[in-house]
Amino acid sequence: MNEVKIFEAIGAEGIGKMVTAFYKRVPNDDILGKMYPADDMEGSEERLRDFLLFRLGADTTYMEKRGHPRLRMRHAPFEINFRGRDRWVKLMSEAMVEAEIPEEIAAELKVFFFQVADFLRNVPETDGPFKI
Ligand code: HEM
Repeated sequence: MNEVKIFEAIGAEGIGKMVTAFYKRVPNDDILGKMYPADDMEGSEERLRDFLLFRLGADTTYMEKRGHPRLRMRHAPFEINFRGRDRWVKLMSEAMVEAEIPEEIAAELKVFFFQVADFLRNVPETDGPFKI
């Protein structure tokens, strides 16, 4: 992933729009809705936005507030399977369309989101498309 190219193209503004569009979809989602804290959606939105500003724009705010991301550890309380992974990426893909992220940039980001989401899976699958 070319972080510099992505950040030059969409900036903090694009990241903010995309994250807002993502969290707009979360509460009504039948898989993800119940996982996120209903009483702190703004907090969740801020954490993802700060993380992406850190990861794509080298902004240190996330690290100052939260420390090292340790995303697998932070997702351990939630059951993340293939369906959760694919739904997260789907909502984010829709959010990128709504936020008018240029197609080429969205395609690159989608690969990154899928890789992170897949790395966060933490339950063994017995009946998914890829049996383990
Ligand atoms: C695989 C599907 C995923 C599910 C079901 C999921 C679910 C969650 C939930 C329920 C939280 C807690 C909300 C909060 O308090 O912030 C969270 C936090 C977070 N997620 Fe995910 N997530 C997924 C994928 C991802 C991906 C792909 C990324 C990054 C590219 C990501 C980045 C984060 C970050 C940065 C936080 C806040 C961590 C912190 O506490 O500082 N998540 N996620």
